[in-house]
Amino acid sequence: MRKKIVAANWKMNLNLEEGKTLVDGILGNLPMLTKQKQVVIAPSFVHLSQTVVQLDEYEHIYLGAQNCATEASGAFTGEVAASILASVGVQYIIIGHSERREYFKESNEALVKKINQALANNLQVIFCCGEPLVIRDANEQNTYVGKQIEAALFHLSNEQMKNVVIAYEPIWAIGTGRTASTEQAQEMHAHIRRVIVNKFGEAVGANISILYGGSCNDKNAIELFACEDVDGGLIGGAALKVDAFLAIINAMMFA
Ligand code: 13P
Repeated sequence: MRKKIVAANWKMNLNLEEGKTLVDGILGNLPMLTKQKQVVIAPSFVHLSQTVVQLDEYEHIYLGAQNCATEASGAFTGEVAASILASVGVQYIIIGHSERREYFKESNEALVKKINQALANNLQVIFCCGEPLVIRDANEQNTYVGKQIEAALFHLSNEQMKNVVIAYEPIWAIGTGRTASTEQAQEMHAHIRRVIVNKFGEAVGANISILYGGSCNDKNAIELFACEDVDGGLIGGAALKVDAFLAIINAMMFA
């Protein structure tokens, strides 16, 4: 059975104290998570050592990072290697977020290196894909997203794919308040699963978790998570508020 996951991507928000308060608030009312229903918190690097201590006593809520370096170690000022993140207690890494592709010009080659680094350090990858508005308007989203997946994941083995989660984040719905309709979300998630099945076979495709991201919030999570191929969410803005994030976690619990 595939896992359902609600993952918080804090992006570049919250100072140390605000982050601590948010995590305390979430932990204070966290439902009983299981191996099949997990939560990931991905704060900025600065928070990681603090957040890992807060999460220590809790099960099935994991620490995530928002990025990692392409290289294993060395003279790369300002970068953070996957091995260093693992040593702090990080278990998931978000790779290929549209903001990193766009603002930091991350190429497919860079994403492949980051994914390889993460997997080599026994980390789970949350691989992000999704189309901009012009592609959606031209109805070319399936080809576009299929190519993103092919470029970044097709070199992996079936065994490695067990440590990969995919997040579909239509760029036109990120931080805009605009959400893909449940039909649009389900259609794309089913397409992504087909792409994975065609390359890696039925078992890998059936077991891979595909999260929805793009203005997923406490109001629309129940409806989105009810879609057959939507296995949870990667949440930005709504993950910065205790009540909204808990409501999204609860939507997963009952999905
Ligand atoms: P929002 O939930 O703020 O739209 O952000 C989505 C996202 O980019 C999560 O990675």
